[in-house]
Amino acid sequence: MAFKVLVTDTMQLGDKTYPHLEVDYREGIAREELLEIVAHYDAIITRSRTQVDETLIRAAARLKVIGRGGVGVDNIDIAAASRRGILVLNAPESNNVSAAELTIALMLCAARGVSRSDRLIRAGKWDRKFLGREVKGATLGIIGLGRIGSLVSRRAQGLGMQVLAYDPYISRQRAVDLKVELFDDLAEMLRRANFLTVHTPLTEETSGMIGDAELALLPEGAVVVNAARGGIIQEEALVRALDAGKLFAAGLDVFVLEPPAADHPLLGRDDVVLTAHLGANTAEAQARVGAEILERTALALNGDLSRGA
Ligand code: MLT
Repeated sequence: MAFKVLVTDTMQLGDKTYPHLEVDYREGIAREELLEIVAHYDAIITRSRTQVDETLIRAAARLKVIGRGGVGVDNIDIAAASRRGILVLNAPESNNVSAAELTIALMLCAARGVSRSDRLIRAGKWDRKFLGREVKGATLGIIGLGRIGSLVSRRAQGLGMQVLAYDPYISRQRAVDLKVELFDDLAEMLRRANFLTVHTPLTEETSGMIGDAELALLPEGAVVVNAARGGIIQEEALVRALDAGKLFAAGLDVFVLEPPAADHPLLGRDDVVLTAHLGANTAEAQARVGAEILERTALALNGDLSRGA
């Protein structure tokens, strides 16, 4: 008997075949069609585009596994899946390096006005008046020192930055090993962070955790980066802090609504560098993500997830 697996978002699946698995690749499938056909599948594999909500889960009569090709599972209604006994899996390792590298890229681009200068040159303007900021010797505050946050901290140290962190869930020893100054109090860390980056999942606890009050604590001229999830840093508060000149610049890969509306107040700004949720989009990461989530899904469907997933 073969298990039917539906892949709904862009993913590199490679040539490997898995025992008892029949995979249909329907990248970008429309919601209406997905609701019509999902009942035929034992597993669906998504990235962040597909909302696996209660309606979809209810329509998926024989679903046993939801696979998320990536780290974050915030587009999946875990409670609704659990009520039906559906296993939710992610690919926790495959794209961490890519996400960390994009974070550093956004930080440097924001600090040096890279997109701004690129836009001006294309518009025929050779503007050399812009003065950026060096990162060497500056402090980087990291909220969330998990897999991606730790990789960011190592790379930032390689650039000569002093790394601070706030993460109530890691041990002091882990911070010592990473040569990071760990804070119990977020406000205290924010007061010292010339650069700030967030690397937490989007949960009730983290949603909107950086707003007006938190941004006000940063030193004047700070740079803020979000390559984790839209909404961890409140977008309206970010606009206000940039308008007030409190922040020098910001770099964002993620938005509350993706894609953001055409009139989103961050889109027209020169002091913000934006990318389209590309943290995991490297050839290397995508090859690993596809293989990792298919492997885990195959093991789960074949009743053998404990062996090597
Ligand atoms: C993640 O959570 O790992 C990313 O959102 C992956 C992706 O872009 O699909």
